Amino acid sequence: MGYLLSNIDFGKIGEYIYRKTGIFLEADKHFDKLAKYIDNRAKVIGIDSFRKYFYTLRFEDKDGTEFQELMNAVTVNETYFYREKEQFEVLVNRILPELHALRPRQQTIRILCAPCSTGEEPYSIILHLLEEGRLIEDRDIEVVGIDIDSTVIAKAKAAKYSERSVHAIPPKVLAKNFKKRTLGYELIDDLIGTVDFKVANVFDKMQMRQLGKFDVIFSRNMLIYFDDASRKEVAMTFYDMVNPSGYVLLGHAEYMSRITSVFKAKKIESTLIYQK
Ligand SMILES: C[S@@+](CC[C@H](N)C(=O)[O-])C[C@H]1O[C@@H](n2cnc3c(N)ncnc32)[C@H](O)[C@@H]1O
Repeated sequence: MGYLLSNIDFGKIGEYIYRKTGIFLEADKHFDKLAKYIDNRAKVIGIDSFRKYFYTLRFEDKDGTEFQELMNAVTVNETYFYREKEQFEVLVNRILPELHALRPRQQTIRILCAPCSTGEEPYSIILHLLEEGRLIEDRDIEVVGIDIDSTVIAKAKAAKYSERSVHAIPPKVLAKNFKKRTLGYELIDDLIGTVDFKVANVFDKMQMRQLGKFDVIFSRNMLIYFDDASRKEVAMTFYDMVNPSGYVLLGHAEYMSRITSVFKAKKIESTLIYQK
């Protein structure tokens, strides 16, 4: 027996997902995964055709549950602590001291990870701030992590990590900040709650506005899933969200110069950063 999803329907739901989230699904890579998901979901909610599923998703999903379930199924959440760690070093050694000198003393410096997946990236920032030591003594620094996938945000809040996820953390830092469990590691209690995690979609203008302004935005390894028009839209949203002289940092395979020229690119050793 075949799937409820046909090739034509894949085009329709693919276009819907793209419009809502910027995520661009390709039939040869994503058809089977999406088709299986829809078959399972149809059983759960008791419907027997793609047409009914798509109708439910678009018109009967008043509280957004169906859309959230779909998002949780289509996102790629790969991440780990200290990934592309040079960027965290540039953050604590160059960017934050510069912003610390520029901003009034009483102003909190705000850092956003959009997206944060299961929390390894924002917690890597916290660990670097703690290792650096001086900055967090001198001023309030707030770290916020957002992701469209509610399952990863729930995991980020739980702060339990696999061996693979912590493999790149220096052993001393790991020993100091994590408790070893039978399966993997758990962040120590003092660090749980140091990042403010929220479910949010970077294309949802209202949600983005509600987050407020930031001094630094990390947006690593998400834009690669978008097409050019969506990348530009997100880059302009970040431009609006960053305070003057603030910075945006992208993943290693993502280049702001290919998206927009509104930011000033700076190279610090091998790390590219983008200033407003
Ligand atoms: C590969 S992970 C990157 C995590 C982390 N920044 C890193 O580099 O290790 C990409 C994340 O982007 C999230 N994502 C995809 N589209 C999004 C959107 N429109 N708004 C917010 N998050 C999104 C996914 O749910 C996924 O967790």
